[in-house]
Amino acid sequence: MGTLRLLENAPLVTRNTFRVPATASLFAEARDRAALDELFGYASLRNGPLLVLGEGSNLLFAGDPPGLVVSIALRGITILERDDDRALVRADAGVNWNDLVHWTLGHGLEGLENLALIPGNVGAAPIQNIGAYGSEVGEFIETVEAFDRDSGELRRLGRAACAFGYRDSVFKREGERWVVVAVEFRLPSRHELRLDYAGIREELAAMSIDTPRASHVAEAVTRLRTRKLPNPAVIGNAGSFFKNPQVAADVATALKAEHAALPIFPANNPALRKLSAAWMIENCGWKGHRDGDAGVSAQHALVLVNHGHATGAQLLDLAHRVATSVRERFGVMLEPEPRIIGARFDGSPA
Ligand code: FAD
Ligand code: EPU
Repeated sequence: MGTLRLLENAPLVTRNTFRVPATASLFAEARDRAALDELFGYASLRNGPLLVLGEGSNLLFAGDPPGLVVSIALRGITILERDDDRALVRADAGVNWNDLVHWTLGHGLEGLENLALIPGNVGAAPIQNIGAYGSEVGEFIETVEAFDRDSGELRRLGRAACAFGYRDSVFKREGERWVVVAVEFRLPSRHELRLDYAGIREELAAMSIDTPRASHVAEAVTRLRTRKLPNPAVIGNAGSFFKNPQVAADVATALKAEHAALPIFPANNPALRKLSAAWMIENCGWKGHRDGDAGVSAQHALVLVNHGHATGAQLLDLAHRVATSVRERFGVMLEPEPRIIGARFDGSPA
């Protein structure tokens, strides 16, 4: 018998960073290998609706999750291979992401510094290929180990099979198929630091750092993020609520002709451009807007916030109105970044 922890009617309000209420009819948490094996043998893990819950920083409970909710809470980190130039690091799904970033830097390994302070755990990092300040995690992932609910087997997916894109991967596209158990990262001992994203060089200068090392970049990014984004420990939020829309280059040029101040960035696909959703939302007048406890952050227009007792349905309704006004003014569709549970984006039942 393993140590699988099972709870009926488990409250989820403290398990999501929006701090909205929801209930799991059955919640299972695996803290060790034996519990994980027990979980994989469990019939409802194979059949029916499933939500794998990490730290709840990229989802919105617009209703209760319809089936089993599981948490993969194994927390080991090991170096599998190492030579002078690089190492292969394996981290279990339940390791906190920012802890892993600092663990790798502390072990003389670079690469993850621009991704410091992103909330959530390691198991969720490949789901939307977390990215910030000019880096995406997929660049450093060698293998994702995941339970495949279709075949009932534990599988190892190489980077190509993960099909990483901007806030996208095979795991996000094949919604409920995969349960990520561990991630293996190939990290260099030294690499060219990425300092070009707006604000990094200025922050390093403010820290009086002339010759930055990776740990300085992590600190600069941490300082920038702390200033720019609302802290979920203070006010409920899930980071950017919408993805930055990607449009064909000629569409971006036409928008720029009409709205000269609209920030436009390159996309991974050279035929596309990324538009600043925050700028468009702010331009529609939503920044700092509040309907009861559901609001748009006054600090960053791309972040929806819960001022106290908003429900997921109220936040979803606000999100839908924000997206509608951006579509009417700019002709651009905004897509939510977080996973929405219990309803569709337009508010209809899931
Ligand atoms: P959860 O929110 O619990 O889950 C998110 C999704 O992943 C769900 O679909 C869930 O089912 C799935 N999932 C989680 N764990 C597993 C698993 N083991 N196996 C299979 N599926 C799983 N994201 C960025 O990319 N860049 C940013 O800069 C960034 N900044 C943020 C800032 C703030 C203040 C906040 C609140 C969020 C931010 N995010 C950012 C979003 C969020 O931090 C990431 O998406 C993170 O990876 C979510 O981790 P989590 O453990 O909280 O996942
Ligand atoms: N801007 C506004 N109004 C605002 C905020 C920003 O006009 O209220 C403008 C800024 O002036 C800037 C542009 O929008 O020109 C971009 O702003 P920022 O650098 O803050 O980046 P972002 O596009 O809003 C993205 C990611 C973040 C990530 C940062 C840094 C998405 C959806 N969001 O935000 O990721 O941390 O870049 O790399 O890609 C997340 O995914 O949850 C997240 C926070």
